[in-house]
Amino acid sequence: MPEILLGVSGGIAAYKAVDVMRILQRRGHGVTVVMTRSAQRFVGPATFSALSGRPVGVDLFGAEERPGYGHLELARSHDLALVAPASANTVARMAAGLGDGLLGATLLAFEGPVVIAPAMNTRMYLHPATAANLALLRARGVQEIDPASGLLADGDIGVGRLADPVDIVDAVEARLAGAGTLAGRRVLVSAGGTREPIDPVRFVGNRSSGRMGWAIAEAARRRGAEVTVLASNVDLPRRAGIRYVDAPTAADLHAAALAEFPACDVLVMAAAVADFRPGAPLEGKIDKSAEGRLALDLEPTADILSDLASRRERQVVVGFAAEHGPAGLERARAKRVRKGLHLIVHNDVSVEGIGFESGENAVTIIGEAGEETVERATKDVCAERILDAVAPILAATA
Ligand code: CTP
Repeated sequence: MPEILLGVSGGIAAYKAVDVMRILQRRGHGVTVVMTRSAQRFVGPATFSALSGRPVGVDLFGAEERPGYGHLELARSHDLALVAPASANTVARMAAGLGDGLLGATLLAFEGPVVIAPAMNTRMYLHPATAANLALLRARGVQEIDPASGLLADGDIGVGRLADPVDIVDAVEARLAGAGTLAGRRVLVSAGGTREPIDPVRFVGNRSSGRMGWAIAEAARRRGAEVTVLASNVDLPRRAGIRYVDAPTAADLHAAALAEFPACDVLVMAAAVADFRPGAPLEGKIDKSAEGRLALDLEPTADILSDLASRRERQVVVGFAAEHGPAGLERARAKRVRKGLHLIVHNDVSVEGIGFESGENAVTIIGEAGEETVERATKDVCAERILDAVAPILAATA
């Protein structure tokens, strides 16, 4: 079973790292804990060593007395490094590449996947310095498990609580399962929602944030794929190592998708594409005083996904079906067949608190060979499951 290096940094959430460790162990992973100095002010190393049955790494210079626990050895002998909680200070040290403590030095020497679960006060999390450090880490391929919102230890309310330990372990396992499986493959992802101009300042749009497509693109990148994202009006950070092509309207998206599709091995259409657009967008801004009532004349857009699916050669083609209510699953199954897709990802947009702007989703991945339901989970975890479902089809078709 994989060996996990669990870095624990300072903060009131440090005690929750005990839960993270226990869940990892329960699921069969070996866990070695390395604590920063400030973490030890919140939880004693004895707690982790007693529960893990292993020595706890605390000191870069004490390492020689415990062969096998030097930073290089620690880095070599683990499959994944998880830092939970990751304090603002530890995030900054990682971003700067500082190796003056055992955790920092080990992470510098570590070549495997790194996952971090930040936890800190909201203002510290939202500070531009922390945001820039996290963006830098993400650009280097570090996976961030977003902190949750709620009442923080210091009485503030906001984002900054350590993510749920079960979600953290789910993300770690998903990351381990997928490592390197898309190396050498080209993945094309559409993300966001198109905007169809009514006049120069107004548009017909939808509520898609692009988060699901972003998560798929990032997960594919982590698996070693060469990733292109067709971005329709997405206001999310872009990461190094992924190519982004802006496609604001359905027509732009269609043209960009046609240009990119022949070279890809996998297409995932996560964008919410307008089904209708104003027939003739106006040159000038509509003047309210000149209109009593205003009727918009809408014409249908082309179904990009069906068009691409009909042109597919070796490509694995994945669509989304955002449906309302319980009958949606059946509609999604029919849509998969009608559009000629390998997989369709059904999500019920009527469920409170998930989908669209949220970081969470609940999906059913429908294929010819069967269906898999992912109960409410982060979009990262949903993305990993979708790519897991793509893998056997890709192996069989390409
Ligand atoms: N899609 C597309 N081009 C469109 C509309 C949708 O490529 N003009 C893609 C979406 O990106 C998504 C899938 O088709 O992957 C399903 O979109 P949806 O709007 O749910 O499907 P429709 O074709 O509109 O189905 P319905 O007939 O149920 O409206």
